[in-house]
Amino acid sequence: MKTTTISNLAVMKANGEKFAVITAYDFTFSKLIENAGIEVVLVGDSLGNVIQGCDSTIPVTIDDMAYHTAAVKRGNNRALLITDMPFMSYATEMQALDNAAILMQAGAQMVKLEGGAWLADTVHLLSERGIPVCGHVGLTPQSVHKLGGYKVQGKEDQAAEQMIADAQALEQAGAELIVVECVPSALGKQLSDALAIPVVGIGAGPDTDAQVLVLHDMLGISQRLPRFSKNFLGDEVSIQEAITAYGNAVRSGTFPAPEHCFK
Ligand code: KIV
Repeated sequence: MKTTTISNLAVMKANGEKFAVITAYDFTFSKLIENAGIEVVLVGDSLGNVIQGCDSTIPVTIDDMAYHTAAVKRGNNRALLITDMPFMSYATEMQALDNAAILMQAGAQMVKLEGGAWLADTVHLLSERGIPVCGHVGLTPQSVHKLGGYKVQGKEDQAAEQMIADAQALEQAGAELIVVECVPSALGKQLSDALAIPVVGIGAGPDTDAQVLVLHDMLGISQRLPRFSKNFLGDEVSIQEAITAYGNAVRSGTFPAPEHCFK
């Protein structure tokens, strides 16, 4: 099994091959994810929900993210390791640079930021200084109070067009991956078609270049299973097999199924 690089992912997109992304927060699960051959591991700030028991990702700190990144890194040398920059850690360009450096030194190989075109200068700055960036558009959980809840985004034409323009601005600024969360399937496809970089969907339909799920959701052990997720442990006898089944389902295009998608 080879190590995943950003260029491998770009080639996969060009060849129409899908890849799988999953969150991890500790060494043991990270090792299972490595064994399963999952291409990308995300140390998500969803750790605020599934590890810390908070009702949003807002309380998560840069120290929390660095701690979990180091643990995940120790368990996985094959997947590309992305770490979320937490709430307000990239409010200014200098904060973004300082905090991204902390995460890269903890073991991240790419950092993820939530937001649209307003982040373009920040993305450019990080990218120019050797820090690969993943954007995150659609439902951006750090803005839950601004969005008025965890709702499907981009349902109206104007909002969909704005989201595509935002994603294109991030790509132009140097982003090398984009996560799109909770949008109608048609918009997930439009985004993947509009961008040269890989688009990773979560609740964004079957046509994105890759899929990401929160580990605790896909094992059916989180407090509430989101409609767009699936309990892969339900059909398997071990956690290792469930993670492997998820990777295979993403690569073969059998996940997500229509019941996991939005119109
Ligand atoms: O924090 C996280 O786990 C994420 C995924 C939902 C994409 O950002």
